[in-house]
Amino acid sequence: MSSSVVTVVAPVNIAVIKYWGKRDEELILPLNDSVSATLDTSVMCAKTSVFASSNITCNEIWLNGKKESFSNKRLINCLDAIKSIAAKEKSVDDDFLSWNVRVCSVNNFPTAAGLASSAAGYACLVTALAKLYNLKSDVSCVARLGSGSACRSVYGGFVQWHAGTDPSGKDSVATQIAEASHWPEMRALILVVGDKAKKTSSTRGMNITAQTSELLKHRIQHCVPQRTTSIIQSIKERNFPKFAEITMKDSNQFHAVCMDSYPPFVYLTEVSHKIIEIIHKYNDLCGGIKVAYTFDAGPNACLYLLEEEVPKMISIIKHFFPSTTPDNLVTGLESTSELVSSDFLEKLAVTAETKKDLIKNVIYTKVGQGPTEVTDGSHLLDEHGLPLNNIE
Ligand code: DP6
Repeated sequence: MSSSVVTVVAPVNIAVIKYWGKRDEELILPLNDSVSATLDTSVMCAKTSVFASSNITCNEIWLNGKKESFSNKRLINCLDAIKSIAAKEKSVDDDFLSWNVRVCSVNNFPTAAGLASSAAGYACLVTALAKLYNLKSDVSCVARLGSGSACRSVYGGFVQWHAGTDPSGKDSVATQIAEASHWPEMRALILVVGDKAKKTSSTRGMNITAQTSELLKHRIQHCVPQRTTSIIQSIKERNFPKFAEITMKDSNQFHAVCMDSYPPFVYLTEVSHKIIEIIHKYNDLCGGIKVAYTFDAGPNACLYLLEEEVPKMISIIKHFFPSTTPDNLVTGLESTSELVSSDFLEKLAVTAETKKDLIKNVIYTKVGQGPTEVTDGSHLLDEHGLPLNNIE
């Protein structure tokens, strides 16, 4: 006996109020609320197929074309949580619940680019399993067990993850603030900055910060609650300057708490700092905030801006960060670049880099929907639950 294959695609999300620090490591419960925008799956997504059968002798998983061990604690926690909800809801019979599963997952963007791949991956896995087991409940709290930020990828548009106070984590869930269509002009440019240095992982970094940073306490008590309320209001009002200012301040404070940790750790590089300088000077010259930057646990920038600013911003990036293949630099949505006067570029008073390809790729995308089931039959597993295409 076996199930049919269920396949789901799920989005990445980039936080504007950052999650950094846990109050429970095992249940992945955060110290503060966070807010993010979910990005369009047509540009960046994870895709996952799941399958259950009485003939499978152990749980198996293939990630980006390679068979991996199913022994990862977070992975097991997600599968167990889904099965325990299924048992409570009696959504499948006991026999089905006892079967093992096969999972096959791919990202359509390079994991090596240091982008939020675990958020999309776990949101995808959990949504696919929820469909396989016919669940009705909200699964953001199950995605959270895989990776904290994954709980926000369970919804489209603008999303809040409520830290919650219950020790069980039952109130630490994500909810939607507004759908993607609420602010249709909102765009994101992800500037992929090459960096070979091994970085402190989010999990380890937030652990050091939570244990040692005084600034984190101040942030959690006096900054995040006010910023969360204000940024939600700015989203509801579609007030870009207010949204952008809070986004930049929160990114800066997140990197400041990393420096305030003991030992400190740094995610931003010289290129990241140059991007920050350009955006501030650009906004000053425009006489109002037109573009916001935000950085996660790595040197890549995510710029939030309205559609009308995109052509100018792309030209500015190309001017200050020359590329050996400028025509192929921008991928994702259809884009144009607009001629920016040499007078304007001069007034920005930033020296253009002479070294080429400091920015490797610019991914142009927009706010998008949450996870969706694939109905065109393009599964990653065949009808026996075995991986299709080039799998080792
Ligand atoms: C800087 O969700 O990757 O991107 O819960 O330990 O898996 P774990 O961490 P993760 O941390 C994301 C941190 C961040 C900020 C954010 O996305 O809010």
